[in-house]
Amino acid sequence: MAAGDAEQALTEAGEGILPGTLARVYPLGTRLRPGGRLEIGGCDAVELAREFGTPAYVYAEDDLRERARSVLEAFAARTARCEVLYASKAFPCTAALALFADAGLSCDVASGGELHLALAAGFAPERIHLHGNNKSDAELEQALAAGVGHVIVDSFDELDRIARIAPGSGQSVLVRVNPGIEPSTHAKIATGQEDSKFGIPGALVPVAAERCVAAGLELRGLHAHVGSQVFDLEVYDRLGEVLRGLGDFPVIDVGGGFAVAYTRDQSPPSADAYAEAMLRALPDGVRVLCEPGRSLVANAGVTLYTVGTVKEIPGVRTYVSVDGGMADNIRPMLYGAEYEADLADRFGDGDPFRLVGMHCESGDVLIEEASLPAPRPGDVLAVPATGAYGHAMASNYNAVPRPPVVFCRDGDARVVVRRETYDDLTARDL
Ligand code: LLP
Repeated sequence: MAAGDAEQALTEAGEGILPGTLARVYPLGTRLRPGGRLEIGGCDAVELAREFGTPAYVYAEDDLRERARSVLEAFAARTARCEVLYASKAFPCTAALALFADAGLSCDVASGGELHLALAAGFAPERIHLHGNNKSDAELEQALAAGVGHVIVDSFDELDRIARIAPGSGQSVLVRVNPGIEPSTHAKIATGQEDSKFGIPGALVPVAAERCVAAGLELRGLHAHVGSQVFDLEVYDRLGEVLRGLGDFPVIDVGGGFAVAYTRDQSPPSADAYAEAMLRALPDGVRVLCEPGRSLVANAGVTLYTVGTVKEIPGVRTYVSVDGGMADNIRPMLYGAEYEADLADRFGDGDPFRLVGMHCESGDVLIEEASLPAPRPGDVLAVPATGAYGHAMASNYNAVPRPPVVFCRDGDARVVVRRETYDDLTARDL
C-alpha cells in the first residue's frame, strides 16, 4: 500500500484502524495516526522506540486477551468438556502466562523451565500439562511433585522412568500417539508423520496402556499433535478418525496447529473453524484438550528496530540494516519464514529493499524484499507478527543483549521483561 493509500484508507476508515488485510498481521486495535504514524495498544510506536530503545518486542495486551477469549469461546460453544492449553513455548514470558492463566486457559509446558514459569505465573498445577520426547528424571520428579494435570507420555523408556522414580504414583497421563498424518506445512514443524521422534505408533497403544497400569499410572487418554501452521482443516477429521480407532478414552488432546497470518496475503481459518474441525470427528462426551501456541501471541507482537545504514550497491540492490536480526528472530533463517515491514512514522509501501540485521553473517536476512518508502538511518521500523517464537528462540549471538518485552494497553506501556545488559553477558562466568 502506498503512503497515499494509507492516508486515504485512514480518511475512509475515519478512526484510522488499519485497512483490510493489513489488520491481519498487526495486533488488534492497531491504528494509523495522521501522516501514517503507527499506534500499537494506544501507544505511538516511535515514542515506544525512543522510550524503551530498539530492538524491542512490543505487544498489545488487549490482543492477547481477545485471542484467548475467542478460542475459549469457540470450544466452549461446542462442548462443555474442554480445556484450552496455551503452548507456552511460543512465548514463555511470565507476564503473558499470568494473563492467560487469568483468562481461563490451561498451560502446555515442554520442559522443567517452562513448568517453572507456568507455576511462577500462577497456573494451578492441575491445569499444567507436561510434554517432551525426552523428559529427564529431574523434570518428571518436578512435575509429579508439583501435581501437574497430565504427563503426556512419549515413549516406553519414559514409562520405565516414571515407574522407577515414583512407583504407584497414580499420576494421570496421556499417551502421545504418532498418528501417521503429515500436514502440509514446513518440514521442521510437521510432527504427525510416521517418521518422527514424537509419540508412539497407534498399533502400540494397547501395549502402552498395559505398561501404564503396571507402572501405577492412571491412563486418561491420548494425545496427538500433527504440526504447526496447519491451514488444511481436513487434517483434523483424519486425526479424529485415527484417535477414535484406538479405543475409548475419557480424554483426547488434539494438539495445536492453529495457523496465523505472517504476511497480509495469508488468511488462516478462524478459531471457530479450528474448534469445529477438531471436535467434529471426536466421540461425544469425551473431554477435549487443544494446544494453541502461536495463534495466541504471534499477531499481538511487533518488533521495533532502528534503521542504521542504507547501502546501495549500484546495479545490484540496496541493503537496509537494522539494529537486531537473527538473534531476536531466527525464523526467516530456520524456516524461510516471510515477514513484512513498515516504517513507524510513514506507514505504506515503497521500493524493494533487502532488510538485514547487524549480525556477522550473510544469512542474517530478515526480509528478502521489504517494500519501504525511502528508508533513512534513524527510522523506526516495525516487523509485525513476531510475537511467537521470536523472544522464545532469541539468542545472544555476537554477544548482543536480548531485547525487552513491552506490553501496551490503552496508551500505557510497561516493560515486562527488561533488556539484557552487558553485565548479564558476564553474569554466569565463574
Ligand atoms: N502442542 C505441541 C505438542 C507442540 O509440539 C506444539 C509446537 C504446539 C502444541 C503449539 O504449536 P503452535 O500452535 O505454536 O504452532 N519454532 C517453530 C515452532 C515449533 C513448534 C513446536 N511445537 C516456529 O517458530 O514456527
